[in-house]
Amino acid sequence: MSQTPKILVLNGPNLGRLDLRDSAIYGTMNFAQLSEFIKKEAAALGLEVDVQQSDSEVELINWLHEAADAKSPVIFNPAAFTHYSYAIRDAAAMLKAPLIEVHLSNPLAREEFRHTSVISGVAHGTIGGFGPDSYRLALIAMKELI
Ligand code: DQA
Repeated sequence: MSQTPKILVLNGPNLGRLDLRDSAIYGTMNFAQLSEFIKKEAAALGLEVDVQQSDSEVELINWLHEAADAKSPVIFNPAAFTHYSYAIRDAAAMLKAPLIEVHLSNPLAREEFRHTSVISGVAHGTIGGFGPDSYRLALIAMKELI
């Protein structure tokens, strides 16, 4: 068994259809490929991950509750929920281990409604704008934190 706790990597709505979104913003990987990339990078860092995606606010909140109970560290791309879900923010605020917010794109360089994150205030930090590498950088940062 590894010494570091398993990291939960949560992904919010529409990320399951990544390859059908604007490739100029989100690149060309589909979600299965992104998930494999995250698992491969985690293994290279000696980390264990559980990668999940849901379009449902309820399911994401349930996973955050489970992570809080298990004291699991979380890397989270809340997708559009980033910008308005106080319910997800409140669930994220109950986490006991570090939370890192990630984005494939740089929301601050996009439409104004994406400039607000209701999650950032309860996260240890936010990494965005590096495509799939945002997750790799988050794994490196998380390894230092846990
Ligand atoms: C995103 C950015 C959000 O603004 C958007 O709603 C997403 C993806 C990103 O990874 O760049 O669905 O979180």
